[in-house]
This record gives sequence, C-alpha cells and structure tokens, in this order.
Amino acid sequence: MEQKILQIKESALSEIEKVSSSKELEEVKNKYLSRSSELNNLKKGLKDLDVSLRPKIGALTNEVSKLLEEKIQIKYDEFYKEELNKKLASEKIDVTLDGTFNPRGKVHPITATINEIVEIFEHLGFSLIENKLSPEVEVEKYNFDLLNVPKEHPARDVQDTYYCNAAPNVVLRSHTSNAQVRQMLSSRPPVKIVSPGRVYRNESVSARKNNFFHQVEGLYVDKGVTFAHLKGVLNEFIRLYFGSARPTRFRNSFFPFTEPSAEIDVQCIVCHGKGCSTCSGTGWLEILGSGMVDPNVLRDVGIDPDVYSGFAFGMGVERLAMLKYAIDDIRLFFNNDERFLKQF
Ligand code: DAH
Repeated sequence: MEQKILQIKESALSEIEKVSSSKELEEVKNKYLSRSSELNNLKKGLKDLDVSLRPKIGALTNEVSKLLEEKIQIKYDEFYKEELNKKLASEKIDVTLDGTFNPRGKVHPITATINEIVEIFEHLGFSLIENKLSPEVEVEKYNFDLLNVPKEHPARDVQDTYYCNAAPNVVLRSHTSNAQVRQMLSSRPPVKIVSPGRVYRNESVSARKNNFFHQVEGLYVDKGVTFAHLKGVLNEFIRLYFGSARPTRFRNSFFPFTEPSAEIDVQCIVCHGKGCSTCSGTGWLEILGSGMVDPNVLRDVGIDPDVYSGFAFGMGVERLAMLKYAIDDIRLFFNNDERFLKQF
C-alpha cells in the first residue's frame, strides 16, 4: 500500500514537471487529485485496512495530496506569469505611432445657425414645434388661405410659388408661416413657438437669392400681447445672436397676416451704417418680417381676437448666417464645396 502511494507520488511529480501549458496541467491535476483519482480511491479504502495501519497510510495519502496540490499551484503560477507576459508582449502598444485618421463630419453652417436661433428663442421661453406641424409640401389652405392671403395676391402666382402639377392646390411652401396656422389649429393659447425649415420660391438664382432657403417662424399668442413685446423679444434676439446690441430699425411694412406689420433691419456689419455694396449703400440689412397677428387669422383658426392677441415673425436663416460670418454669396451654402464648409 505504502509502495503504491509513493509510486503515485513519483509519477505525478514527474508528470507535473513535464507539462508545458496550463491546459495540460489541468489534465494532470484531474488525473491525480479528482474524486475518482487513484489516490482518492485509496483514501476511500482506508476503512477496510487493518486499524494499526490506518494512521500511517492515512497520513501518507494526505501528505502526498498536499504535496501534489502545492506543486501544481506553483506550476500554475509559473504558467500564469508566463502567459501574461506573452500576452503583454504581443499586445504592447507603441504610443508614439501615428493614430488612424478618422475624418469627422461637421454640422452644416445653415443647420448650425438654425440651432443657434432656436436655442436663443428657447431661452426666451419659446418651444420648438414638431416637424409634422411644418410640412414643406403644403396645401394652399395653410400656406395662403388661412393666412388671410387673398386669392388674387401676387405671391400666389406661379411666378413666385411652385405648384404641383398633379394636384393644383398643392405647393412647395413659400414661407414657414404655414406652421403658425397648423399650430394654432392644433392647440389653444398661450402659444409660444418657433418652427425652422426650408421654403421655396420661384426665383432666378443669384448671389443674393436662391430658389430655396430657410426661415425660422415664431409665434406668440396670449392675452395682452402687444407690439412692445414684439420689439422687446426681437431686440433681445438680435443682441444674443450678434453678441452685442446692434442698432436696429423697425420699418413699416405689409403682410396680409399681420396688422400692423414691420420689417427689421440691422445696421450693416460691414460698413457700420456708412453704406457699402453688401447693404446696397443703405447702411441697413433686412433680417425679418414680423407683425401683430391679424384678427382675421385668429378668427379663422377659432381664437377670439377680442380676448387674445399675438405677434409673429419669420426670419431668413441664410441672411443671418451671411451677416454673422460675412459671406457674400448665398449659393456658397448649397454648392457643397468642402473648402467653404470646412471653415465652420
Ligand atoms: N412669411 C413672411 C415672408 O416669408 C415673413 C413673415 C412676416 C412671417 C410677418 C411672419 C410675420 O410670421 O408675422 O416674407
């Protein structure tokens, strides 16, 4: 019996010595130390031995298992270190190597300008409305009729507005003001919203005009809204957008959907009012149309003009971006020339 145990010990030790990987070591461990191993079977058979022999043999089997466990653990540690070092060596990174260049896309200057305008109005308490309330393909009803634009108004002419051949009353919206009407039909005052988007006009393209461009529409309807609110909000917008208060001029104007109406000019940023080619010698640049919402418009969407009043505005995004970044040709925004776009 004793002989047998010593034999097991010898062969186990020599096998442990010979293993060359932690996987092999696992196999050896199983062979000599698992429940069904020879050594363990001997332990189980101890009870059948002569009582006088039991302590000695018992102690010997325990001693051998302990020794094997220790040896195996030492081997394990060696393998672990070795394998870790190998892994570290093979995965070593050279921090001085050039990285892979991942070109990053940029936000288009028009999108960036829209985001900036919207953020300012959000700061002034306006909410951005959902896209579905501001479709680019629109029916005349929302682009014109409900905005009090008479049937014979020149804006409705095909020379100004794009009509759909297949459906005569469908247009590409000529302004974002359709969003006002849709918003007022879908909610009750107080309404305080902005709605940015693309608009289309049948224009010949030049440095100053494109046949599509972008606007941000704004609308504030509540009890007691006055022209003073309109002035206050729009002057504050100009101050925040241009970074400092700029001289502005409220010019009397006319829109069928507002009464009274005003256009706002900002003093030319190029010549500071002296007159130059950017401002056609006037010293001023128009940035938006605005006014007090016409009582007819309120009535037609079911809002009582004796109880509520409101102001609205529509600003040209390209115009605002051109003023801020001194860009002299609107077509630059749409040509997708990387040399231009990269600058923003
Ligand atoms: N829709 C007008 C345009 O495109 C701009 C405008 C004027 C919008 C007055 C308004 C407004 O909301 O009240 O020229």
